[in-house]
Amino acid sequence: MLFQPPLPPRYAEMTEVEIADQIARHKRGFGKSLVILGHHYQQDEVIRFADFTGDSLKLSQIAAEQDQAEFVVFCGVHFMAESADILTADSVKIILPDLSAGCSMADMAAIDQLEEAWEFLTHATADTFVPITYVNSYATIKAFCGEHRGACCTSGNARLILEWALTQGDKVVFLPDQHLGRNTAYALGIPLDEMALYDPALPDGGLTGEQARSARVILWKGHCSVHSLFTVQQCEQIRSVAPEGKIVVHPECPWEVVQKADLAGSTEFIIKTVGDSPGGSKWAVGTEVHLVDRLAALHPDKQVRSLASIQCLCTTMYRIDTSHLLWSLDELAAERVSNRIVVPPDVRRDALVALDRMLQHVSSRPMAAK
Ligand code: 13P
Ligand code: SF4
Repeated sequence: MLFQPPLPPRYAEMTEVEIADQIARHKRGFGKSLVILGHHYQQDEVIRFADFTGDSLKLSQIAAEQDQAEFVVFCGVHFMAESADILTADSVKIILPDLSAGCSMADMAAIDQLEEAWEFLTHATADTFVPITYVNSYATIKAFCGEHRGACCTSGNARLILEWALTQGDKVVFLPDQHLGRNTAYALGIPLDEMALYDPALPDGGLTGEQARSARVILWKGHCSVHSLFTVQQCEQIRSVAPEGKIVVHPECPWEVVQKADLAGSTEFIIKTVGDSPGGSKWAVGTEVHLVDRLAALHPDKQVRSLASIQCLCTTMYRIDTSHLLWSLDELAAERVSNRIVVPPDVRRDALVALDRMLQHVSSRPMAAK
């Protein structure tokens, strides 16, 4: 995690109204030279200042279109800001308002671990591997995938990317999210016993050569600390109190939970599914709490609640608050480009290859529909 120095004390002394007024003033002042992007998991106080909102895929597409802006302030997490830097021209400066807004899943795959895994897997079998990384990963991991004829994916197009990857080689290494990998491969008809779990903390990932040879998909042992909080028991409990309701979950949830759900898909898919459902529908939603609460507020004619009774909150997304947003804009207004996220050119070149392949395969098809 990167270190974010504390903000000057005056930000803590301002009221929320004063902060909002100052942010709005900066937005007017910067005009078209400033674009604010907001991921759906951001708090409402922040998201209302976003020029564009979206899930990881949509925000990558929007970032790629920002050739007129001088500054893109990314209200999301570090890997999203890195992707935005890779996808935009050098003249566009990407700002992350709080440098400590990382992603625990991205932290579960380091480039030296991937190189070690590659060495083991490619020597264990004569088969060819295609590396696929979820965008929730560091730019160095994306670059490795680009360099080794692989690609990035998001939850919105993981299925299309995995289908493509299986035409490019004999086997796929999917990282860092074992759950998205397992759910996607299973939805494509690959049985669980043709998947092997590679644990980067163990020698050879804890796999024998035979396990590596017999698997079609090697899943990296990483997960999202938010979505792995959803359980089968929660699904059963909801079904017992509201059997007529539906359960929709994000594919970062464990496979057992996705099997119990009625539908699984990306953040944009969840928004559309709940939005398009008839008035009076009941939904239990397995994803980050800010999005679930926003959906409930947006659709008062429907019953929308979290699948979990505990708060499933992404604590790193939550670090982006209005004080940090205002501070980053104050810095820009004072001609200081603080918290700029820059990916080194050699990493950028190969990561761009992987991201471009991702953007060529766009869809929001659901993963599991019963
Ligand atoms: P999407 O934005 O791809 O739905 O992923 C959710 C997430 O966990 C973002 O970090
Ligand atoms: Fe990372 Fe999960 Fe937070 Fe997304 S929700 S940023 S995957 S920890």
